[in-house]
Amino acid sequence: MSPLAPCPIHMDQVRLVRGTTTVFDGLTLRLNESRIGLIGDNGAGKSSLFRLICGLDKPASGSVSVWGQDAQSRTAERAGRVGMMFQNPDDQIIFPTVEEELALSLSPNGLPRKVNCQQAREVLTARGLGHWAERAIGSLSQGQRQHVCWLALMIASPRSVLLDEPFSSLDLPGRTMLDVEILKASQQVIVSTHLLNHVRGFERVIWLDKGQVRADGNGASVCAAYEADVAARCQSQHLNIG
Ligand SMILES: Nc1ncnc2c1ncn2[C@@H]1O[C@H](COP(=O)(O)OP(=O)(O)O)[C@@H](O)[C@H]1O
Ligand SMILES: [Mg+2]
Repeated sequence: MSPLAPCPIHMDQVRLVRGTTTVFDGLTLRLNESRIGLIGDNGAGKSSLFRLICGLDKPASGSVSVWGQDAQSRTAERAGRVGMMFQNPDDQIIFPTVEEELALSLSPNGLPRKVNCQQAREVLTARGLGHWAERAIGSLSQGQRQHVCWLALMIASPRSVLLDEPFSSLDLPGRTMLDVEILKASQQVIVSTHLLNHVRGFERVIWLDKGQVRADGNGASVCAAYEADVAARCQSQHLNIG
């Protein structure tokens, strides 16, 4: 990311309440780097952070801006600023077939749906997946559906891409492919994951702990700190049980 470019994502003193849980209370973060990992225990707030950035949740106070616009602004260009791959592909997929789902990502171009379906087929064919075009989404495995979501995001090509536990359902070839695609992507990519090896090499990793930033720095050091903390917690639990 050029030092002169506007800050892609900036949250200031954010308070977020979901149900009866205060997830964030005064969270301030600037997310400038082109590759950022987000790690931490279940319930730490990783998905909630993504939902705020995408404008799916509104902060009770504080502000979230994405490429210079309020995350809540419902302008047509929002899809061009940020896009998210949900942990569960079924939360994301709308259409019954693969080509229709991918064509949706092309819809901002204003061309007829038939033209966009044809272009979606070409994208699939270029990746050796032409046979998926007319497949019913429901006939794909969870990992394959996640792959469709990734393709949809790449076609939409927002400036910032948020991937929420994208590796969890992928097989080994799928994970390797996604690692390569993340490496090659021209956009800002933020990845939440429990599989630390996928973000260990990132220039920045943030460890969230109960809605607060516990550590923030280069991937190798933050992943090592988190692993050491998990090991210490397991050890003390083991001693308590023993
Ligand atoms: N739909 C929801 N309604 C109420 N509370 C929620 C909801 N989703 C998540 N939470 C709570 O928000 C906190 C953060 O959750 P989440 O962002 O999903 O964490 P992570 O993605 O790191 O596992 C947790 O305490 C969780 O229980
Ligand atoms: Mg989550």
